[in-house]
Amino acid sequence: MLELEAVDRPTPKGDELLVAVRAASINPTDAKRRQWGPKHLPKTTGSDFAGVVESVGDHVTAFESGDRVCGTGLHTDRFQQGSFQEYVTVPTDIVAMLPDSVSFKRGAAAALAGVTAWRALVDHAGLEPAETCFVHGGTGGVGHLAVQLSAALSTDTITTVGTEEAERAATEFGADTVLRYDDPELQESVDQPVDVIVDHRIDEYLGFDIGISAFGGRIVQYAGEDGDFEGAREGRSKNLSLHMMNMSNLASRSDTTNISEPLSSVLELVARGVINPQIHQNYSLDEAAEMHRAILEDSFIGKLVVTV
Ligand SMILES: NC(=O)c1ccc[n+]([C@@H]2O[C@H](COP(=O)([O-])OP(=O)(O)OC[C@H]3O[C@@H](n4cnc5c(N)ncnc54)[C@H](OP(=O)(O)O)[C@@H]3O)[C@@H](O)[C@H]2O)c1
Repeated sequence: MLELEAVDRPTPKGDELLVAVRAASINPTDAKRRQWGPKHLPKTTGSDFAGVVESVGDHVTAFESGDRVCGTGLHTDRFQQGSFQEYVTVPTDIVAMLPDSVSFKRGAAAALAGVTAWRALVDHAGLEPAETCFVHGGTGGVGHLAVQLSAALSTDTITTVGTEEAERAATEFGADTVLRYDDPELQESVDQPVDVIVDHRIDEYLGFDIGISAFGGRIVQYAGEDGDFEGAREGRSKNLSLHMMNMSNLASRSDTTNISEPLSSVLELVARGVINPQIHQNYSLDEAAEMHRAILEDSFIGKLVVTV
C-alpha cells in the first residue's frame, strides 16, 4: 500500500488564503495544457475550486477562516499548484465568497465556465434586453451557462446542440430556439438577424456568424483555431464587431478586471436560481485521469466535478 508522508500545511503570506478544497471541476484547458507538454509542467491539474478558508495572510481583510469561498484561474502559468488537491494557497484576486445556498460542487462547476459566459455576454457583447443572442453548443460547460445567462438577460436565445437529449436540456435552460449543429441547412434555420453570437469554434463558424448577424452585431469568440473564413465584405457592410477573449487573462494580467468581480456576479445568480450549473458526473481525486479523458472525448451536458 502507498505510504503518504504527512506534510505541513503551507502558511499563507500577504494577500493569500489557505483554502481546504471540498470540490473542483475540470475544464478542457486542464487536459489541453497537459497535452501541450513540458513548458507547462510540472503542474497539479485543475483550475476551479470551492472550499473553506483555513487561514489568511497578513494583508487579507475581506476573508477570514471559516469562510466558504470559490475561485478559478489556477490553470494559468501564474500558478504551479492546481485545484485537484486537499489544500490550495491562492491570492484573493481570484476568489469570491460562496453564498451559503450554493453547494461546493455547484460553485466549482460554475467558476471558470460561468466567468467565461459572463465576460462574453456582459462585458464584451453588452447584451441588451431587447436583443437576440445565438450560443453555439448550448449544453457544453460554458454553453449551458451562456444559454441560461442569455435567457435571463435578453428576449430571444437561439442555440445549437448535438442530440435529442441535449435539445430537451437546452430548452430547459431557457433557449427559445434549439437547432442541431449538424443540420446542413443550419444557416437557413436562423430566421432572424442575431445581435450577439458566442462562438467556441471560430475556425468553423466565423463565416456563418457573419451571415446570421444583424447590422451592428457582436461576435464573441472564446475558443477555436486559425482558419479561413468568408464574409469579410458582408461583415463590414453590417458594421460587425469581433471580440476575441480569454478569461485566463483575468488571472494572468494585472491590467484587467480581477476574477473575483465576475465570479461574485455569477455565484450570486446561481444563489438566486437564475443560472443552474449542471453536474453530469461526480468523481473522486483518484479518478482524475478518467476526468481528463472524458473532458476531451465524451459528449455530456454540463460539467464534471471532483469532490475532495
Ligand atoms: N478562452 C476562454 O476564456 C475559454 C474559457 C472556457 C473554455 N474555453 C474553450 O472553449 C471550448 C468549450 O469549452 P467548454 O468547457 O464549454 O467545453 P465542453 O464542455 O467540452 O463543451 C463543448 C461543447 O461544444 C459542443 N460541440 C461539439 N461540436 C460542435 C459543433 N460542431 N458546433 C457547435 N457545438 C459543438 C459539444 O457538444 P457535444 O456534447 O454534442 O459534442 C459541447 O456541448 C473549449 O475549447 C475550451 O478550451 C475557452
